[in-house]
This record gives sequence, structure tokens and C-alpha cells, in this order.
Amino acid sequence: MKDVIIACDFSSASECYRFLDLFQGQARKPFLKIGMELFYAEGPQMVRELKRRGHRLFLDLKLHDIPNTVRRTMRVLSELDIDLCNVHAAGTVEMMRAAVEGLTRPDGSRALLVAVTQLTSTSEERMQRDLLVSASIGETIAHYARNAREAGLDGVVCSPLEASLVKAACGKDFLTVTPGIRFADSSTDDQVRITTPALAREKGSDLIVVGRPITAAPDPCAAWIRCCTEFCPENL
Ligand code: C5P
Repeated sequence: MKDVIIACDFSSASECYRFLDLFQGQARKPFLKIGMELFYAEGPQMVRELKRRGHRLFLDLKLHDIPNTVRRTMRVLSELDIDLCNVHAAGTVEMMRAAVEGLTRPDGSRALLVAVTQLTSTSEERMQRDLLVSASIGETIAHYARNAREAGLDGVVCSPLEASLVKAACGKDFLTVTPGIRFADSSTDDQVRITTPALAREKGSDLIVVGRPITAAPDPCAAWIRCCTEFCPENL
């Protein structure tokens, strides 16, 4: 299951396809993530095209709304052939249950569904001061992860630094999808709770989400291979 997911944070399909051209000739197609920017710009057609090209796909829309709206939206997404999608755990257990219901197709199949705990750009200080959550970030994440499991989700999005805490709270099969990845020698940008691909592996992350360290690298394909070498050498 371990894999590197490239966050395709581009503003247009053509920019994204130009980026993907750099991976032509690779035996394995990278697992991709498209988020709000690209999905709002290009719509479901882009999802269909990436699937047609043979990529596994994480649709990172981080739904957070009333349960009925989330259920109905997930029903629409269930018709796209995505592999992984997400909601915010802050939307409550009821909202997450509605998400599972909406995502499940009539034949019982569905994409994997994970919940965002706290964004990796949020520090404990900001969470306590801006969001008025007085618990520690660790307690908050373990609690949100247990809520996600109770609602029937497959895992959570968290920092790799919290992956072992999530596994301890929810079991080793509960997925940890972890952004906030940086090479030892790269800039941190706006991320706060970060680690290297090698440390993410040690901490028990299942899937790492890597954006700028690959998309902004001088040689993105080499950066992707470097990530895989550190995180999931068995895939190479
Ligand atoms: O460029 P960078 O590696 O920081 O990109 C991380 C990606 O992971 C972005 O697309 C961001 O939206 C996403 N993400 C995150 N933290 C979360 C959930 C998703 O950084 N908790």
C-alpha cells in the first residue's frame, strides 16, 4: 500500500499535463492528487482524463458542510473513478457517516475515504488561539481519528509526526495519509509539522503527499524517484 502521491497543485489542465509529460517513459505511473484549485478550474473532465491515462487518483476536496450536502456531493463523486477522497473530521461523526453513505455505490464499492484531522500548516498554538481548541494537537488528532473510524472511514490525513499516534488510537490498518513532507535539504514553505520521506516511513505513514518538493524541483521526475527511494523502495 505504501506510495508517494504527487500533489498536482497547478492552475490549469495544460500546466498539469506539461508536468506529467516529464514522467513519460517511467514504468510506473505516479499516484496523483488533484485538489480544489485544479478541480474548480477544470472540473470532472480532468479527473476522467487522468484516470484514462492510468494514474491512481486522490481527489482532495476536503468536504466540510452539513451532512445532507456532503452525502449528496459524495454521491456525485462516486460516479468518478477516483481511488481516494476526503472530508474534514471537524464536520462531526454524523457528517462523516453521511460521506460514507454518499460515496458508496449501489453495488457496495467505493473509493477510500479519509478525514483531515488538523491541517499540517496549523501549529498547536494557532489551533488553540484561533480555533479555541484547548486540547493538545496530539489529543485532538487522536480524538478526530477515533471519530473517523467510528464513522466508518478508512483513515486520516495527518502529519507523519502523528502517524504512530493515530495507529495507536485506531489500529495499524487505519490509513495515515501524510502531507508536510520535505527533503532534508529543501525549504519548508508554509508547512509547519513536517518530516522527510524516510522519517515518514519510520513513523508508519502509509501514503505521503508531496507537492512543491517535486513540482518545484529542477528535475521533478528525479525528485519523485528520490521520494520513492526513501519512502517505498519496494515499489521501484
Ligand atoms: O507543496 P506541499 O508538499 O506543501 O503540498 C502539500 C499538499 O497537501 C497540498 O496540496 C495541500 O493542500 C495538501 N494538504 C496539506 N495538509 C493537509 C491536507 C492536505 O498540506 N492536512
